[in-house]
Amino acid sequence: MSFILNNRDQCVPIYVPNGDSFFPNGTCMNVPRSVPALDGYCNTPTGSRQQVNKITSYIDGSNVYGSSAAELIKLRDPNFPEYMAVSLGKNLPPNNDTSACTLTVQGESCSIAGDSRVNVVPSLGSYHTLFVQEHNRIVNLLKGLGWTDSEELFQEARKINIAQIQQITYNEFLSWFLTREVMNQNSLLITGGRTSYFTGYDSTINTDIANDFGIAYRIGHSWITNQMQLHTDFPETSDINDPDVKNIENAYLNPHMLYMRGRTGASRMLKWMTETKCPRTDRFVEDGARNKLFLKNGVSFDLAALNINRGRDHGIPPYWKYRTNLCGETLADPSSWTSLTWHDNITIELLKSVYQ
Ligand code: HEM
Repeated sequence: MSFILNNRDQCVPIYVPNGDSFFPNGTCMNVPRSVPALDGYCNTPTGSRQQVNKITSYIDGSNVYGSSAAELIKLRDPNFPEYMAVSLGKNLPPNNDTSACTLTVQGESCSIAGDSRVNVVPSLGSYHTLFVQEHNRIVNLLKGLGWTDSEELFQEARKINIAQIQQITYNEFLSWFLTREVMNQNSLLITGGRTSYFTGYDSTINTDIANDFGIAYRIGHSWITNQMQLHTDFPETSDINDPDVKNIENAYLNPHMLYMRGRTGASRMLKWMTETKCPRTDRFVEDGARNKLFLKNGVSFDLAALNINRGRDHGIPPYWKYRTNLCGETLADPSSWTSLTWHDNITIELLKSVYQ
């Protein structure tokens, strides 16, 4: 990508004020700025700094299949290319770059997947494992139906897997997150059931991810739990003394939980996630992510502070301006605390305590 200026040329450190309830006096979080790109798609650069996407902005399974042909080659099984590559126990293939994660047990590996963030936390790694395994399951089903051509098998399984991801995203996840009412108001519901196809695709719409979305959707950080857990049934394996529950700070960037219980960690973790409620969508980020993100040798980050800082790095406009410009609402410029009408009183008091 020739329009990327240069890699991480500047930092925007976060200086923690003295007297913080967690971080020692004098703490500074080292935060490199996001990789820059020119605004205006190279042709009409405006001079303002933009950021680069590492994966595609379509819901096209790029987290499973990568965002380029070169990435995909590395992810397919070289001997049976209709399948996605897996390692022992149907886990994700190993990453030869051992610096991609923190390895604490001999014989374990960092993983590769369509999205390089696969190693951030084992719960994310389990989702990746699920959709790689699902691809391979679909290939086997197609073989059972008589399909034989390797490339056709791969492409058909990929298509079905992506359709399932879209179905889960729109009909299941977004209907919960936004509510069906909002989905309906914005024509986002996939209708037609099994008898017809969605015909609403408009190739003239710019489908780039809005920069604001990359900051706003971090609301998902309020769903993070302080602990990671494996479904606790069937503790019949030899590593039974290795606890099924781990504090999240001990699981960041460490694939160990995926290797536990005879390498069945991914499916056990997925089962745990489906049977456990995540924290509410709110302004609270649990301690494990707010104070202990990527804890290593006593040094850690605050994910909520990173999010605010990243919004500034990307030049995201204030909330009220965003809603006015993008949603067409008329919100007053919050020049006084009382004009923050979209916040409750408790939140306004809290904001007053940190902003002047
Ligand atoms: C344990 C779980 C998670 C961890 C440890 C985590 C960690 C992170 C980190 C470290 C960043 C980059 C921060 C920065 O430097 O600016 C990030 C970005 C982000 N996260 Fe999370 N996250 C988690 C879960 C989630 C969830 C559940 C969602 C939404 C459903 C989410 C949405 C995002 C988004 C949209 C970004 C910005 C991505 C980009 O601009 O490239 N994260 N997360």
